[in-house]
Amino acid sequence: MLAKESKVKEIHDKVFESANKAKEASKKYGVENVINATIGSLYDEKEKLVTFNKVVEVYKNICSEDIFGYGAGITGTEDYKEAVKRVVLGENYSNVFNENYLDVVATPGGTGAISNTMKNYLNRGEKVLLPNLMWDSYKLIAEEVGGSHQTYNLFNEKGEFDIEDFKNQVFNLISVQESLVVIINDPCQNPTGYKLSIDEWKAILDVLKEASEKKHVILINDIAYIDFDERDEKEKDEYRFLFKDLPKNLLTIFIFSMSKSFTSYGLRVGAQLALSSDENVIKDFEKASKFSCRTLWSNVSRGGMKMFSEIVLNKDHYEDLQKERNEYISLIRERADIFLKEANDVKLETYNYKSGFFITIPVKKNIKEVVKNLEANHIYTVVLDSSVRVALCSINKGKVKGLAKKIKDCINKVN
Ligand SMILES: Cc1ncc(COP(=O)(O)O)c(C=O)c1O
Repeated sequence: MLAKESKVKEIHDKVFESANKAKEASKKYGVENVINATIGSLYDEKEKLVTFNKVVEVYKNICSEDIFGYGAGITGTEDYKEAVKRVVLGENYSNVFNENYLDVVATPGGTGAISNTMKNYLNRGEKVLLPNLMWDSYKLIAEEVGGSHQTYNLFNEKGEFDIEDFKNQVFNLISVQESLVVIINDPCQNPTGYKLSIDEWKAILDVLKEASEKKHVILINDIAYIDFDERDEKEKDEYRFLFKDLPKNLLTIFIFSMSKSFTSYGLRVGAQLALSSDENVIKDFEKASKFSCRTLWSNVSRGGMKMFSEIVLNKDHYEDLQKERNEYISLIRERADIFLKEANDVKLETYNYKSGFFITIPVKKNIKEVVKNLEANHIYTVVLDSSVRVALCSINKGKVKGLAKKIKDCINKVN
């Protein structure tokens, strides 16, 4: 019965597969005896889902009409769009980006923002450029819109961003495609926790600027985890400044998500923020994205947008939320420090972690056997092609202690 293109559709979601196994094991052996490092949501030290008091308080005080009514406008409410601009580009965005053009389209989560972007910018039959270590959904989204993907090495032999391979793949693709769509997920990269330095960002943008002299280039800048990176105001400004006054043929679309920043995964609120030095590029963005919103989800949760703008546009609320979030950023840092120190002690290799929810361990050989060993020890991770991802965001410090050695032992048994 399915349409021809839909017959091949099937999700082999590695995250949910591992998560289900972990749940079964927890029922059988008791939660305290199972390390479920599969969950990509923030959990506290009692291993309960974190909700921020400020978020809950503001949401609960929203009037019924603002929760149950349709959100005004297909692309989001004006307050919501203003709040997204401030969060992504800074309070002072209208002065800093005064010679650029920008627009926001509300979407169901960051996933909706990535889908809506690929739908309107990835030509059918063309490839999106992704790192070899990535959030798997990017590939599925590319397929859903009639495209596919190509990868570059995320890391060079020094464990830094492999700019050489990135450049090669960019120029390979533009030599055969009408345009180039590339995704960078930074900071707190999923799955490695890598964070690009400002110099690495500059080098990436130099490559994309050069490519944009030949073809249209669309940079999808997935910042879903940005609020969990420890950066001061100066660094934030330096980062934002990178995207100012880029060539007209290079469009940046920031992927904003409320899921992690406000621990509001289920509310499904996110946005595309497009930034360009060409007014027509932004007009086209708004026109095509709005059409797709109308046909796919019509509009986004009004209550979710309201809660976000009520907090962000109120200085006191926003400061309270940031204070609360900072406590959890410190908690993740403590978990990471324990894991990385112990990994160093037992010589367990990890990819270059800087910040965020996940650490990834290269296994290289015999991954299936290693995973069997881990599971026999009640350790559940997300299994990638030749590495395993440990979600520091969801296991408490007690369980993090000793984990590096346990993983090392499971690898040593087979390799
Ligand atoms: C790298 C990355 N980008 C985007 C998302 C999108 O999340 P959501 O659709 O919940 O906003 C996720 C979720 O896990 C992610 O890991």
